[in-house]
Amino acid sequence: MSDRPVIDLLDPASFAQGHPHDQYAWLRQHQPVHRHEEPNGIGFWAVTRHADIRAVGRNPAVFSSSPTIMISDDGVMDLGDHAMMLMIDPPRHGAFRRLMIPDFVPRAVNDMRSRVGELATQIIDAVCERGECDLVEDVAGEMPSYVVADLLGLPLDDGRELYKLTETIHSSPESVPEGAGLEAVMKMFAYAQEVFQDRRAHPREDLSSRLVHAEVEGRPFDEIDFALMFLLLVDAGGDTTRNLVAGGVDALFQHPSERARLASDIEGLLPSAMEEMLRWVSPVTYMRRTATTDSMVGDQPVSAGDKIVLYYGSANRDEAVFDDPYRFDLGRTPNDHIAFGGGGPHFCLGAHLARVEAHALLSELLTRLPDIEAAGPTQWLASTFISGPKHLPIQFTPTSA
Ligand code: HEM
Repeated sequence: MSDRPVIDLLDPASFAQGHPHDQYAWLRQHQPVHRHEEPNGIGFWAVTRHADIRAVGRNPAVFSSSPTIMISDDGVMDLGDHAMMLMIDPPRHGAFRRLMIPDFVPRAVNDMRSRVGELATQIIDAVCERGECDLVEDVAGEMPSYVVADLLGLPLDDGRELYKLTETIHSSPESVPEGAGLEAVMKMFAYAQEVFQDRRAHPREDLSSRLVHAEVEGRPFDEIDFALMFLLLVDAGGDTTRNLVAGGVDALFQHPSERARLASDIEGLLPSAMEEMLRWVSPVTYMRRTATTDSMVGDQPVSAGDKIVLYYGSANRDEAVFDDPYRFDLGRTPNDHIAFGGGGPHFCLGAHLARVEAHALLSELLTRLPDIEAAGPTQWLASTFISGPKHLPIQFTPTSA
């Protein structure tokens, strides 16, 4: 084990250039269920193999999403009977998820395609005459904030503001002023409350109105249920999709021959290219589960109460599943990546929507600004939870809107 890298999956510095693939590779090979220390907590098991992550994700009775899916318990709030859907176990989880499904099934999402296409055009129109911009802030980040706003029936500018709050919430506590994360959550809750009151009085044709007038578990969906679902949607649908697009373009810059391959057949190759970008970028770094009973993860016994942390970015380079896993291959098939989770009840609700958004934006970007190139180094998010570029300056030949 002489070539063992320093294993520290709690240090944002480990993620400062993207996923720590050296650490993941060593762990997969030597300690696929690794006991990781946690300075202010009980420690956790870092799970890095594809098969183990899928098995844990699909067994919610033994590996619970409650009380939180974050490694630290610090953010756990006592909300009485209420909890965010992502942190509720079956069968209760199903009651909440069923409320959301009509807006996220492929048929519903397909109906949003033309609107998402218009948004993509609008986003590229806003930058194309400038000849340079930040791909993350000016392009990739705009789409998810607009789409979530549309879905919830909010003005697009409010979507942008909410998206900024998400960024603060997802930042490592060290990288933002003290208390900023909690303040951002509170602002988001206050905004959600206003929407709740408004839609109670003036229902419209949007997801917010449907939720406000829904029933869950035989009682009305209340203000706290609404705020939690609102926070989840804004939070889960924002920087994840942004990172897929920006991280995907960054990967194209690093792999010129794959980029040329895509440029020669954008519409034909984009669907499989996006799956490879999902595998490559793995925008969500981890989800945590908590063992409800003594059990096994792979060959490792774990105890009731242990934290089990699933590293999706590692699973997506697992040599047991992917041929030549460090090759960025836009035509890769099969591509059994688990960027949206390893299956199980919490599998990403927005997976279809994220694909529609990324497809529209990448297609518009690569077609209308074919000569984009990096205009400076990519700066990565210093986050142990979400992976992707924070800034990616680009330049291109200006074109008219
Ligand atoms: C590339 C973009 C995205 C990635 C990589 C991603 C990834 C994930 C992952 C890993 C999970 C947890 C899966 C599990 O625990 O098994 C998740 C859950 C979720 N995602 Fe996404 N997501 C993306 C985009 C979106 C979008 C656009 C939305 C909605 C607007 C969304 C909404 C959700 C929701 C609501 C959940 C919780 C589902 C539940 O608890 O039942 N996601 N996502």
